[in-house]
Amino acid sequence: MFFFHSAFFLFCLLEDACVSLFFCVLPIKTVFVLSEESFFNACTGVRSEIERMREPVIVSHYDADGLASAGVSARALRKMGKKFRSIVFRKLGEQELACLKGEREIIFTDFGAGSIDLVAELKAHKVVIDHHQGAENNSVLQANPCAHGFDGGREVSAAGVAFFVFGFPELADLALVGAVGDMQAHSQFGLTGLNRKIIKAGEECGAVKASKGLKLFGRNFRPLAPFISYSTEPFLPFLTGSDDACKRFVESLGISLQENEKWRNYLDLSESEKKQLATALIVHAYSLAGEFSARELVGEVYSLTNQPEGTELCDAQEFSTLLNACGRNDKPELGLNVCLGEPNALHEAKQLLQTHRNNLREGVKFAQAHVEDFHHYHFLDAREAIADGIIGVIAGMLYSTIDRSKPVVAFSLDSEKSIKISTRATTRLVKNGLNLGAMLRTACAGLGWGGGHNIAAGATINASSSNEFLLAAARELKKQKTIQAS
Ligand code: C5P
Ligand code: C5P
Repeated sequence: MFFFHSAFFLFCLLEDACVSLFFCVLPIKTVFVLSEESFFNACTGVRSEIERMREPVIVSHYDADGLASAGVSARALRKMGKKFRSIVFRKLGEQELACLKGEREIIFTDFGAGSIDLVAELKAHKVVIDHHQGAENNSVLQANPCAHGFDGGREVSAAGVAFFVFGFPELADLALVGAVGDMQAHSQFGLTGLNRKIIKAGEECGAVKASKGLKLFGRNFRPLAPFISYSTEPFLPFLTGSDDACKRFVESLGISLQENEKWRNYLDLSESEKKQLATALIVHAYSLAGEFSARELVGEVYSLTNQPEGTELCDAQEFSTLLNACGRNDKPELGLNVCLGEPNALHEAKQLLQTHRNNLREGVKFAQAHVEDFHHYHFLDAREAIADGIIGVIAGMLYSTIDRSKPVVAFSLDSEKSIKISTRATTRLVKNGLNLGAMLRTACAGLGWGGGHNIAAGATINASSSNEFLLAAARELKKQKTIQAS
């Protein structure tokens, strides 16, 4: 009975997605026709402004989408024959903006909307390419889907906005890297909304290909046992972290790990072996970690056909993980070089990836042991334990094992010993009206500053304000729930 249930579930995951996608995309197109037009007009306005720039500096956020959006902009500027420089920040606050006082021409990517009035005060010639909730300011040209009725957390990333601004279809590959890096792909339908337009443009020019498959990292190059044991999203109980257990798991299915002394990877398997392995992993995840983890295993995957064959860069998910590894481990310039296809950058980034994945594994273990139920939210105090660069990723990963009925609020410390807050929610909570960006903006008033998306947001507050913030967060979340209920 259990197997029937799981097999049916697998069937739904693998076979129904195209049909669902069809139903899912159509209404979005119909509802947003007018907003699309105004959004594309804003993109054109920003592009015209950039055309007038001589040698802009691209100022971007440090995560995968931040680097991918800087990458789209840098590659586009090259195509336009323009020189550029690049600066990457972890956040865009008063301190960072002060560093930009001497700049003459600035393109902000993946932030700016949340601090638009401060950006406006800069004397430089500037534009903002962003997808975060924020305000408008008449003195700054901004391309931002949130201002035109779209959900910037779900329907298009900053790299996608940059794609629409510059309008080169071959840059669709990096635009998808940004979207996948920001976790915009729905577990069942894949990317939706404006992201679908990017896929279409990319497929038409031969730069990308969307298909269904197992989503674990390393499909192209990793031997089967580490391919499974390295899975942190989802975390696979008894398999993640243990090559030996994964070897036994694969062998128990009658699938051989080697062929002519070569370790086989996922792409070496026959179609029936691929299905067999996917089914077994789904049953495993479903029974030990729940439906959410099982759903995370299979979905739409995006191949990037212009990237060097047999490398991580051929897959949007793997590319984005590499960028996160660079940005979140203090090597953002390396990530940008990967986007620009600079020789040797990939090799160096891969070494960093190893460290990144180890940090994530250790971080998840700590988080699972220390997360507490604070009634309106799950609270993880990881000050001193988890670096501020990866606390957000770990907060999201916690959902593979904790109850999904409330958001996660996590603390770490930044380099100045202030409290870095990362919050994460689920699509269902957001559909029910939860907005973490709005919650943080209010809860942090007077304590620091914060913002972001409805589904994922962050903030920095001073070290002595933890209790005050925790109470304010509970109050705001309770208020949002009361409004939703009425
Ligand atoms: O700054 P930016 O918009 O690029 O970052 C969004 C963050 O939110 C990313 O770290 C992304 O992984 C996270 N996110 C998430 N869960 C979602 C959507 C986004 O953790 N469902
Ligand atoms: O840092 P973290 O990954 O948790 O951030 C989640 C989202 O919140 C990102 O999109 C980030 O850009 C945004 N954020 C923000 N203001 C802050 C911190 C984070 O808008 N002070």
